[in-house]
Parts: sequence; C-alpha cells; structure tokens
Amino acid sequence: MASIKPKAPGYLQGRGYQRPKAVISDREIRFKCFLQNTIIDVLRARPGWQEVQGEEEWDFYWCDREWMLANYDTIFLQEHQKILHFRNHYELTRKNLMVKNLKRMRKQVEREQGKTEGQSLDFFPSTFELPSEYHIFVEEFKKNPGIVWIMKPAAKSQGRGIFLFRKLKDITDWKKGEYQPLQDPNIPKDVPETYVVQRYIENPYLIGGRKFDLRVYVLVVSFNPLKAWLYRGGFARFSNTRYSLDSIEDNYIHLTNVAVQKTAPDYDPEKGCKWSTQQLRKYLTAKHGVEKMNQIFRDIDNIIIRSLQSVQKIIINDKHCFEMYGYDILLDDQLKLWLIEINASPSLTASGKEDYDLKFGLLDDVLNVLDLENRLQGTEKRIGGWDLLWDDGLVYAEDPAPEGSICTVCSTNSFLGKTHGLEHYKHASILKVTKLFA
Ligand SMILES: Nc1ncnc2c1ncn2[C@@H]1O[C@H](COP(=O)(O)OP(=O)(O)O)[C@@H](O)[C@H]1O
Ligand SMILES: [Mg+2]
Repeated sequence: MASIKPKAPGYLQGRGYQRPKAVISDREIRFKCFLQNTIIDVLRARPGWQEVQGEEEWDFYWCDREWMLANYDTIFLQEHQKILHFRNHYELTRKNLMVKNLKRMRKQVEREQGKTEGQSLDFFPSTFELPSEYHIFVEEFKKNPGIVWIMKPAAKSQGRGIFLFRKLKDITDWKKGEYQPLQDPNIPKDVPETYVVQRYIENPYLIGGRKFDLRVYVLVVSFNPLKAWLYRGGFARFSNTRYSLDSIEDNYIHLTNVAVQKTAPDYDPEKGCKWSTQQLRKYLTAKHGVEKMNQIFRDIDNIIIRSLQSVQKIIINDKHCFEMYGYDILLDDQLKLWLIEINASPSLTASGKEDYDLKFGLLDDVLNVLDLENRLQGTEKRIGGWDLLWDDGLVYAEDPAPEGSICTVCSTNSFLGKTHGLEHYKHASILKVTKLFA
C-alpha cells in the first residue's frame, strides 16, 4: 500500500540499480481510479482486476496530476506498484516549459553537432513566455509586421483562454486585464497568470476547406533509459467551419479542440469532427504519394523522440511511473509538421462509438504493455496497437537493423496510421471512415 509515511521520496527508491520484476500472480490486481470515462470501463473489464476505494491498498493507480503533485513526495511505493504520471511531468506538458526545454536542447545540439542537426528541432513555432519575456516578444513582433499571433494560458487545456491577435494593442488590453486580481485564491493577487504567445501557423493544411490537427498517443515507461511506445491509432480533429484568416476572433475556425468544436451551433454529433489517422494517411498518400507521406510520418517520429529527449535528464525517473501523452501536431500546406503541445491527461472521454472503441483499445493495450500480469517476455516490439519506437536508441522494424544502415533509409518500428495486424483485435483501434464533408 502507498502508506503516507514520510520516508525517502518515492523516486529515490527506484534509482541506481535494477531489481527483478515484481510479480502479482497469486491474487487479484487492485486498481484505483476516480475518472468516470473510458479508463474506468477498461479497468473494470480487465479479468482478475479488482477496484478499490478511498485509502485501500492498490497495485495500480490511474491518478490525476493534482494527486501526483500533492502526494508523490510523501509516499513510499512498493516494488510492484504502478502509477500514472511522473513527478514533474509538467516539464513537457506545460506550454511554456515544453518550449523552454526544446529551445535549450536545440542550442545544445547546435553547439555539439552543428546548425544542420539543430534544425531537426525546428518543429515548434516561435514562442515566448508572458509576462517574463514580454520585451523580447515585442522586438520579435515588430520584426514581423502583420502576422498573426496566438495567446494561450500556459497550464490550461481544451482551448480555454486562447485568443488570436494581430495588433500589439490587443495584448496591452490583455495585460491590463491580467493584472487584475485573479479568481484562484491560491494564486497571490498580484501575480499574473503565465501565458505563452506563439506565432500562429497561418497556412494549415486544409481538407474540405477545414483546418485540423493530429492527436498522437505516446507511452513512456521509463525516461532513464528512455523507452517509448507509439500507438498506431489516433485521429485528426477538424474544425467545423471553413478556414479563413478574415475572422481571427472566431475560435470555431482556428481551434480544433473537440471541446471547442462540439459547442459550435452547427456541430453534428453524428458526424463528429474526427478522421482516423489511418484515413488521413490514405488521403495524404493519394494526394502526395507514398514517399511524401512516409516523410511526414518520419517527421512525427522525430518530434516525439526529440521532445522526450529534451526532458530526459530533467524528469524525475521512477520505475513505478508511466505516462501516456497526447501530442497535438499540426500539418501546414508545405507538409511541414508543427508541435503545438503535449498533454499528460489527453481526453479519455469518447465523442462517439468509434471514438470509444479507439480509446478502449488504446487503454487496454496500455495495461498490456505495463504487464502487471507478467505475461510478456520483455523483448516485444509490438503489443496490441503499441509499437516500440525508442528503447535507449531507435528501434528498427527489421531485427537486427540492416548492416551499415542509417535511420533515414531503413525503416523504424513506427506504424502510425497503419492498422494491419489489428483486424483480429477485439477493439479494432481505428475510427471508421466518417463522412465529414458530405
Ligand atoms: N501556433 C498555432 N498555430 C495554429 N494553430 C494553433 C496554434 N496553437 C494552437 N493552435 C490551435 O489551437 C488549439 C488549442 O491549442 P493548444 O495549444 O493545444 O491548447 P489547449 O491546451 O487549450 O488544447 C490547437 O489544437 C490548434 O488547433
Ligand atoms: Mg491541445
């Protein structure tokens, strides 16, 4: 049980040496989870797993980020216990910190490996933290007259508090507003909320005249050494309204969050606003050919690996912890990919039957990878819809990697948007092709 004894912090327990894997073979696996969405269904449906409440002992805890922050430093985790989130996951999932870590890594790579290699990190839009970097931002703003910028609260989600602007005056108004006392009693009254201001990608790739971004799922089971899995399924989230830069104040056009789109007056819950990644892959292949499409998906691998590496030494590694990230990635009309943000609690609420099936399969496979039942060898490169992308180095689809090959020519163990081999699987892990633009 995770006793609340003030012993050494949990993260110290797992450091420094490898212990044999703990096995629970003689009894039920006790899980704890307070979320009332797909994850609780998955846990309850799992044979041999038993739900516990309150202060009861647990083996597996799908906790929320707040619980992690409040309790992690005071708990002692037993050998076999598994818990969602790393202690300081926010290094990657708060918008300002993600960019800070990526900028630092880019500098380091440029210094050690040269400018060209540094360009492999040019996948995030120019971003500044406000209010701390306000003056640097203003300089940058003046250098690029007429472009659109987007303001986002650093730690909010679902499109809350976001707005687009072209004039500095709009920020001045915001500044005035922000220095007013805040609602949250825990935040001192004179401290403004941290925002990021980011170059708005004005030329998104459009399908049927609509903007979309991609939701990609990544499972990290260790940061040191880095071990990360990429899920084959996923989806593109479309805006409900045709894209235009004429009305930058209209969030229904510019923000692709489902939470935003489903409140649009003409939103049709039957149609939804999603395409499966598989559908998108087919579409892009038909439009641009296999080579281009492969490049796009290789670029996604690069974004995932580079972003995880940028915090590898900062995240407090603990073998009890795991993280399932939801990446938001935007494609522009030059087929360039942009990392918009990374979520530590991607929505597990289903927006329809297909979405439910996708999320059920995804989460069930998370449990398969974590393997509390101890059924695996430990050498698997694919578990359900999860493919091992990085295991202290790039993982190749062929085993062993072809002699003398470099990663851009031999194929990595990455199958995003491919579903072959999953047909037999109970939850097919794909969204059906929906007619969004009929
Ligand atoms: N720099 C940007 N350029 C273009 N669109 C963006 C940009 N940043 C955000 N968006 C749009 O706004 C949505 C919400 O932004 P995001 O950073 O993901 O915040 P949230 O945490 O509220 O989801 C994204 O899904 C995307 O559609
Ligand atoms: Mg988002």
